[in-house]
Amino acid sequence: MKKVTKAVFPVAGMGTRFLPATKANPKEMLPIVDKPLIQYAVEEAIAAGITELVFITGRTKRSITDHFDKAYELETELEKNGKLERLEIVRNIIPEGVTCIYIRQAEPLGLGHAVLCAKPVVGDQPFVVILPDDLIDDGKRGVTKQLVEKYQQQRKSVIAVENVPKEDTYKYGIVETFLSDDDSLFKINSIVEKPSPEDAPSTLGVVGRYILSPNVFSCLEETTRGAGNEIQLTDAISMLLSKESVYAYEFEGTRYDCGSKVGYMQASVQYALKDAEIKEEFKSYLDSLN
Ligand code: UTP
Repeated sequence: MKKVTKAVFPVAGMGTRFLPATKANPKEMLPIVDKPLIQYAVEEAIAAGITELVFITGRTKRSITDHFDKAYELETELEKNGKLERLEIVRNIIPEGVTCIYIRQAEPLGLGHAVLCAKPVVGDQPFVVILPDDLIDDGKRGVTKQLVEKYQQQRKSVIAVENVPKEDTYKYGIVETFLSDDDSLFKINSIVEKPSPEDAPSTLGVVGRYILSPNVFSCLEETTRGAGNEIQLTDAISMLLSKESVYAYEFEGTRYDCGSKVGYMQASVQYALKDAEIKEEFKSYLDSLN
């Protein structure tokens, strides 16, 4: 039984919706309360048993590499000043036994192209793809763990989906599924990137969590530019469907689209309301607005 041990984080996009914040800084380093989005994603992967973290980076992404690196000067200062709690926070970002690998996507040719850049490292193993700007709170084990559990049952690719408003189908990959006895896991019949509401086969939208069979790489190699003139992961998954089964999984939890300003602000409010240090004060502030 092949274990899923590798997670790919495509973080080479330009983040144009967050300009000017993303002019010199990656959107994945935007914090929700006090933790950058990429760290939530990494913690979710580690909670699912992932031991190799593969970051597909690009221009302006150096701070991601620095974030997961050892910060000697900072650690020395914190230790000297007796700020031991802060020291632990900084030291324990990546636990022992977990490795970070960085691959540079020279040009932002699309999510599909970014995932293909991971091929030399992933090889012949099923692997996870996590888009850090989709922040998902399931209140417990994390949605990647949920996907791994489904993968272990099916031994096939599993993609996280959620019901999206009909008028929003043009923002998502949309799947058409076969009927199923399981009310959260469905075999996919077809998948299409960003269809208009009139053309969408359903309202089940793909969100940023996937477990993919390594056979997706040969599909990606054949994928030409699609929607937005980019090499789309959705198109490669569509090709994969003609070779093997792929499942859609309606996950448990709440997703915040932190690639959009509204989603980012919603996540910030919700996470602040559950942060032990600031929740009381922040709630009083919100109450005072009404
Ligand atoms: P998005 O569609 O959110 O694009 O990419 P973006 O560039 O990050 O943001 P906007 O739309 O310009 O504001 C989805 C995911 O795919 C990655 C992004 O980093 C994000 O995690 N991506 C996208 C790449 O790694 N490379 C690419 O060429 C394109």
